[in-house]
Amino acid sequence: MNLTTQQSNEFVARHIGPGESDTRSMLKTIGESSLENLIGKTVPAGIRMAEALNIPAAMSEHEYLKHIKEVSQRNKLFTNYIGQGYYDTITPSVILRNIFENPGWYTQYTPYQAEISQGRLESLLNFQTMVSDLTALPIANASLLDEATAAAEAMTMFFNTLNKQDHIERSRFFVDAETFPQTIDVVKTRAVPVGIEVVIGDYKTAALDGTYFGALVQYPNNKGSVEDYRQFINQVHATGAFVVMATDLLALTLLTPPGELGADAAIGSAQRFGVPLGYGGPHAAFFATRDDFKRSMPGRIIGISIDAQGNRALRMALQTREQHIKREKATSNICTAQALLANMAAMYGVFHGPDGLKNIAKRVALYTQTVADAIEERGFTLVSGSFFDTLVVATDKVASIREKAERQLINLRYIDAGHIGISLDETTDVADLFDLINCFENDQDPVAFNIEQDTALEHIPTTLTRTSQFMTHPVFNTHKSESQMMRYIKYLENKDLSLNTSMISLGSCTMKLNAATEMMPLSWTHWNKIHPFAPISQTAGYQYIVDELGKYLCEITAFDACSLQPNSGAQGEYAGLLTIRSFHEANGDHHRNVMLIPISAHGTNPASAVMAGMKVVVVKALENGYIDVEDLKAKATQYSQELAGIMITYPSTYGVYEETVKEITDIIHQHGGQVYMDGANMNAQVGLTAPGLIGADVCHLNLHKTFAIPHGGGGPGMGPICVKAHLAKHLPGHVNEGTDQAVSAAPYGSASILLISYGYIRLLGAAGVKAATEYAILNANYMRARLAGKYDILYTNHSGQCAHEFIVDLRPFKKSAEIEAEDVAKRLIDYGFHAPTMSFPVPGTIMIEPTESEDKAELDRFCDALLSIREEIAAIEAGTADKKDNALKNAPHTQFVLTADVWNHLYTRQQAAFPLPYVQQNKFWPSVARVNNTHGDRNLVCTCEPVESYMVAEA
Ligand SMILES: Cc1ncc(COP(=O)(O)O)c(C=O)c1O
Repeated sequence: MNLTTQQSNEFVARHIGPGESDTRSMLKTIGESSLENLIGKTVPAGIRMAEALNIPAAMSEHEYLKHIKEVSQRNKLFTNYIGQGYYDTITPSVILRNIFENPGWYTQYTPYQAEISQGRLESLLNFQTMVSDLTALPIANASLLDEATAAAEAMTMFFNTLNKQDHIERSRFFVDAETFPQTIDVVKTRAVPVGIEVVIGDYKTAALDGTYFGALVQYPNNKGSVEDYRQFINQVHATGAFVVMATDLLALTLLTPPGELGADAAIGSAQRFGVPLGYGGPHAAFFATRDDFKRSMPGRIIGISIDAQGNRALRMALQTREQHIKREKATSNICTAQALLANMAAMYGVFHGPDGLKNIAKRVALYTQTVADAIEERGFTLVSGSFFDTLVVATDKVASIREKAERQLINLRYIDAGHIGISLDETTDVADLFDLINCFENDQDPVAFNIEQDTALEHIPTTLTRTSQFMTHPVFNTHKSESQMMRYIKYLENKDLSLNTSMISLGSCTMKLNAATEMMPLSWTHWNKIHPFAPISQTAGYQYIVDELGKYLCEITAFDACSLQPNSGAQGEYAGLLTIRSFHEANGDHHRNVMLIPISAHGTNPASAVMAGMKVVVVKALENGYIDVEDLKAKATQYSQELAGIMITYPSTYGVYEETVKEITDIIHQHGGQVYMDGANMNAQVGLTAPGLIGADVCHLNLHKTFAIPHGGGGPGMGPICVKAHLAKHLPGHVNEGTDQAVSAAPYGSASILLISYGYIRLLGAAGVKAATEYAILNANYMRARLAGKYDILYTNHSGQCAHEFIVDLRPFKKSAEIEAEDVAKRLIDYGFHAPTMSFPVPGTIMIEPTESEDKAELDRFCDALLSIREEIAAIEAGTADKKDNALKNAPHTQFVLTADVWNHLYTRQQAAFPLPYVQQNKFWPSVARVNNTHGDRNLVCTCEPVESYMVAEA
């Protein structure tokens, strides 16, 4: 290899854990002579990719950073006054450095293992408290994907409260015409498949009757106007329907909150609380509602419970609502949301506190007032006299104003031929005001104005001026200095186990390396200060990434077209199913609405199918985990006329490459159906096979799994969909591009994190991404081989191999030692590890997915931990350890428990805390003992409680 090629390939060895000699020794343990042989025995020959992937060769990290810097310069930095739900913001540096750029925060998984997630759980509880306070609604969730989808979720939440008859008789949803266009579009897309009729009108004249179940209004609205909805809300309530208000957290520091106006729910984006624009995301949407809806609200809710010692402990509440249990009856398909961004917004709230936020809001409002006065003085007319940060100017001089604005590198919002919008934000300073006003002036006339701190906010109606307090909890009123703030963030980080502590082997989640070089460009202004609705002439850098990444993803999936819009895997499922639906409709097959879904499918699959207006029919699995082809044939024949398609996961969620997959896809096609492939397991396909080769028509890719976007403690994610040519014209559109059927607020979803996946592919190159798949399979089979004999491994193929993950059966120990899967999961914490995926897809099991990024030594530590736990179970089975009082049942052990004066257990403190020598070198302490789930659900508390209450509990 020449020196340049060698340098270009160096990242492969940084990304993939095992080196050459480790690979040899791991193959020996598996009993294979070469990696090629192993792959040959694992991936069925009939679906193997014949050619190498046509994507560029690898780049070194240094080369890549130079390249991505150059591409970034193609984006033009303008000062944005476009607004429409996206505002520039100042990310406090202490948050940027200690959260946004910190793997201790961004590599965390969703906090299912509460004992090692108390830090982010507390931060998300802060988010919920902040949202609940600002909206004056008692319960808020821990984020949704974006403002538009949050509005659609509110609509379906209301709809789901109706009975079957009302679904027919009360199926109308009113949307005020002055709602953001992208929100209206997403709401319409969501309404059609489930039989909701969206009626758009003017709330002032709308006469809602008993055929409506709900209404959506925006506050302040699309034109910036602050409207008083009290009367409208009363009228809607009088008909028995509900109202959701789309709103703005910063505005709510000054405006009467939705809860006080009588709204049933409030939604919006928390982006302007310190989260960069990033050409559309990722940002956290919020959702708050009345108590009556707490069991039907979408998304994750963090709640307060107690641990085994009775101490306060946080956890995700009401987990029974999750799709795994309820499947097609789930409240929504939301799984991955926007946890990291919710944490950033919450910390912005902690950093500024209520007074700081009010000061920012007041400054923005006063500056807006100043601009309004200056513009009016110059003879222009404003559409509304009541506003917070947004003005709409009615003018016949749009072209000349635009020309002048663009000369000054200013983006205004050009609404139509007669209207211009101007939205200010916290980054606007006095110099900007001069430039802005100058757009409405001739350049010679000087602009003069005087703004005083105590100038009255004349444009916020007194009837809508906020009088109630908010964010009074100490957490929002304590951490004022940077030292305090830095330490608070670190204090929370220390409670959480992330990838910078140890491997997180969550099956189906692919917790691989999120390399620093892939992440770094996200902090650069040429990427993160671009507004999603900026003119295309300013976004050549982003367009390049979108085009290139789209091409690579098509090549990797063997498909023809790609949409980068969906913001999560489940959102991709929904978008993919809509393309199938739209394809059938275009063919006149309106009756094709049955979706076959194997019993082994992830719960989001049936939940998404219902959102796409489909009926779910379950297909059975065989003993070996394969789809039961006979059952499939029978169901496909039975529903032949109505068959819309099938959703399959490949390799299956049981971790095997079914040899029958092509037969399955053929059967579906013979009956006129389409094949949807859930791409969660693409880490076992890239470069070896592809959805297009197994006979699928559409798939989503979880970029936050296979393509290196970090999980962020439960989001962000990206779930782009790739399709065969015949589905291309049915992909989601966007109102900004003059098309419809949008599934997300922004045309390219969370565009800024596409850079991570782009970087991943460019750094590894064609050979590297394939090697990543091979090593993912090697690592899984190595662990399988080490654990086999001590544990039962479920579902391997005919040669005994697994794919990139495998399932360990823990059910026998219930009988032999009264040990449950949860005991093993919690005991792993004592060994310094996050538990693998629990009880999915098979209850009572754990599913292990090591990924290619883990080296042999780390895999060995994890295997040693599981083998040592097996011995602990054996001791219970043999009667040498007690069935009730043992290290598994009492796990995890906190420092507090271990150092207490009294130790009454039948095993030693040493056994509890340091069961293997490596643990002594690097001990991770859980901050709470086992969390009591039932207590939390029975006593639902989802906002920060007064400090006194938990001080008492801890005493
Ligand atoms: C098999 C499978 N399908 C779908 C999903 C949903 O993806 P997301 O969480 O990105 O919505 C997951 C998530 O873990 C999954 O494992």
